[in-house]
Amino acid sequence: QNNGKINIAIDGPAGAGKSTIARMVATRLGYIYVDTGAMYRAVTWHMLQLNIEPEHAENVLQEAQKLVIELIPDENGQKVLVNEIDVTSEIRTLAVNRIVSRYAQIEGVRSQLSTIQRQLATRKGVVMDGRDIGSHVLPDAELKIFMTATVQERARRRFAEMDASESITLEQLEQEIAQRDQLDEQREFSPLVCADDAIVLDTTKMGIEEVATRILELAHTVMVGQ
Ligand code: DC
Repeated sequence: QNNGKINIAIDGPAGAGKSTIARMVATRLGYIYVDTGAMYRAVTWHMLQLNIEPEHAENVLQEAQKLVIELIPDENGQKVLVNEIDVTSEIRTLAVNRIVSRYAQIEGVRSQLSTIQRQLATRKGVVMDGRDIGSHVLPDAELKIFMTATVQERARRRFAEMDASESITLEQLEQEIAQRDQLDEQREFSPLVCADDAIVLDTTKMGIEEVATRILELAHTVMVGQ
């Protein structure tokens, strides 16, 4: 009924290559790519604009409910709009990196974003990446991947794609990533966890093309078996 389409969940820690791979897999299958991290980043950016700290969960929620977050595919990947303002580059700054996990801990924010994410996936043909997609948002996804890499390798990748205007050393970045992993893994509501039925891919020594090909093979196997 869904034209043989499946949903693919890709989870894992920061910098494992999820978004690059998820976008490639989606393009090759003609599927829709949903970057859930961008949604948490968009909420964070907005709260920073309003000076609402993550400790004030009630205020955060009240404001978050008024937000319209849009992910629009374009030639460079995707554009992210918050109430029609283009925040594509603003949500990738160090200021947002450093605090996003704190807003992502708030239960109401998670349930609000999870509802939107589930709606986007109802018609199948979605590749969604994040931390809790296979375990919480789309527990029935036909294919679940948990992507990992050593923290050193993940820091190296993030460092390479960073803007030269951001003053941070590779060592500092490694520390910040490790800290973010810890917050994401230890939070109370839908933490970063590998779903029981997820396939683990350690990409430390794998190239982008190799990882994408592997996931496409897995996806085709699932589709044939349906
Ligand atoms: O994937 P990313 O680095 O853009 O994600 C940014 C933050 O958002 C990450 O530190 C944890 C949070 N996040 C989350 O809690 N759940 C998701 N499904 C996606 C991201």
